[in-house]
Amino acid sequence: MKKLMAANWKMYKTWDEAKATARELADLVGALPDDREVLIFPPFTALKGVSDELASVKGFSTGGQDYYIQEEGAFTGEISPKMLKDCGAAFGLTGHSERRHVLGETDEYIGKKTAYGIASGLKVVLCVGELIEERKAGKVEEVVERQIREGLKDVPREIEAEQIAIAYEPVWAIGTGEVAGPEEIVEAHAFCRKILVDLFGEKGNEIRVLYGGSVKPENCSQIISLDNVDGVLVGGASLKGESFSKIVLA
Ligand code: 13P
Repeated sequence: MKKLMAANWKMYKTWDEAKATARELADLVGALPDDREVLIFPPFTALKGVSDELASVKGFSTGGQDYYIQEEGAFTGEISPKMLKDCGAAFGLTGHSERRHVLGETDEYIGKKTAYGIASGLKVVLCVGELIEERKAGKVEEVVERQIREGLKDVPREIEAEQIAIAYEPVWAIGTGEVAGPEEIVEAHAFCRKILVDLFGEKGNEIRVLYGGSVKPENCSQIISLDNVDGVLVGGASLKGESFSKIVLA
């Protein structure tokens, strides 16, 4: 299984900045090792530019940070999977903690969105993860199980394993510099794996489980070597070609 090294650029970068970072990254990474895959989630406004910049770079792809659950229509401000694909995206992102906790998306809506993205031909990275209060209350498994089961509720069980990935991103580790410890990561990822196997049978072992939350060049090689860590989803440290290239090659 190839490790998926994903960058979430959130609401950063203009068209020119995004294209320049993508080019710098591809140049610094050079020939990608066979066991790696790189995925960039630029803001919508730079998606086409980044996709074009990376179109001929082997092992690199792009995705949309969000999408709506219709192909087209009177939905002001929204973007459809069809439009993402038209801009060169192969992936979509659902369930990110900022959409759950800042923009108020529910488990139910995230489930619909995940299934719709897959039905529309995108591969989807579904993010899950607990708040610090939930961890302190011993509710990590309860929260993660609910988010995975609801998130994948309407996803057909016959999909290919590579069409979906889970990103375990404990909310308290996002953008805080406070990375989860190896034991916390191993425990949470083993738990995600258990739920995936329960839902998809053997195929659940082939579905990638990424870690996200304060991943940096300094901690990536340790994180990526842990059991059931099949890649990373990186925010802050993915914004510069130099630091993300080190993560990709960690
Ligand atoms: P940071 O890497 O900045 O903690 O962000 C993680 C994240 O939210 C990726 O989706």
